[in-house]
Amino acid sequence: PFTVVASRSGRRFVVPGDKSIASVLEENGICVELSCEQGICGTCLTRVVAGRPEHRDSFQTDAEKQRNDRITICCSRSLSEELVLDV
Ligand code: FES
Repeated sequence: PFTVVASRSGRRFVVPGDKSIASVLEENGICVELSCEQGICGTCLTRVVAGRPEHRDSFQTDAEKQRNDRITICCSRSLSEELVLDV
């Protein structure tokens, strides 16, 4: 598990292994835009404020992934214990 911090409210959520970042945010009343939920379309792309994403999508290019400034929250996870997102 890792922790996602919603930077706009400062709220913190633990993301367990069996749930996506997007579903944890939704469960907590934070609206997220989703479409394919498979890392293909890029609809759920979210700005990363701090932390290191574990990219699992095929939407961003390798160069974009290396910048670690955006994450597809439908399927990607976190390499750092904490991931701060612009939500
Ligand atoms: Fe399509 Fe996340 S919803 S990439």
